[in-house]
Amino acid sequence: MKTVTTVKDLRAFLRPLRDRRIGLVPTMGYLHEGHVSLIRKAREECDVVVLSVFVNPLQFGPGEDYERYPRDLERDAKIAEQAGVDFLFAPSVEEMYPQTPLTKVTVSRLTDRLCGASRPGHFDGVATVVTKLFHIVEPDRAYFGMKDAQQVAVVEQMVRDLHFPVTVVPCPTVREKDGLAVSSRNVYLSEEERKQATVLSAGLREVAEKVKRGEMTRASQAIEYLKRRISSKPLARIDYVDVLAYPELTPVEELKGRRVIVAVAVRFGSTRLIDNTILDEKEETPCSAR
Ligand code: PAF
Repeated sequence: MKTVTTVKDLRAFLRPLRDRRIGLVPTMGYLHEGHVSLIRKAREECDVVVLSVFVNPLQFGPGEDYERYPRDLERDAKIAEQAGVDFLFAPSVEEMYPQTPLTKVTVSRLTDRLCGASRPGHFDGVATVVTKLFHIVEPDRAYFGMKDAQQVAVVEQMVRDLHFPVTVVPCPTVREKDGLAVSSRNVYLSEEERKQATVLSAGLREVAEKVKRGEMTRASQAIEYLKRRISSKPLARIDYVDVLAYPELTPVEELKGRRVIVAVAVRFGSTRLIDNTILDEKEETPCSAR
């Protein structure tokens, strides 16, 4: 594995490999099993695997955790090498943003709800940095986790709208044994917050089961159930609980015969966690549980 810190060097390394299938796994580092599953999928499907590690300041709002976001490039490099990465691209902020950027990429409507509503400007930051990474790496395939299903919908829309010659590959959420979705931010949680946070995956699983058994047929019932279930944990502060058509992210009420996302964002202390499940009448099991 080669660690590369400049755009110029990465392009030079990739130039002779352009006839091979290049896979990109974009991350903000502090790698965990979720990232490793993306790398493994890229390794299976591509000849060359590029992992980017860049904590993108553009996607953090004022007062968010940009400064304290966990960083450990040495640890990331070991994990990346073991998982089969060929190029670890770890640019500095100055390398990615040599001047204050005057250009940004905005995906409208899909970003009005869920995390887009709670974190204004967040998805502009994501779409802008992903666009830059796509231009730098020119990947054939790019791998994203479904834990951030709204991000997947936004990136897929952007790829279609702007004719990026890349296939977006959404990958299932990876969970701890007790169901908690793995996230770099889980390290912020105290022992008690970590214990109570399992209510997110448990609540989502219960909703999926109720819908499957026909006991829950309406979005409002799922929202009410989850709000009650999550609020039973004294440390939980709900940011949002919503049910929307997926990937359109438009409001729905009747669940039958549709593909919907049941999505939650909840604070435990200063840590904001997100999780979701996709319910699809046409599928045997919810995507995120596979
Ligand atoms: O999902 C993330 O880690 C980030 O939003 C991404 C896609 C790497 C862009 O900074």
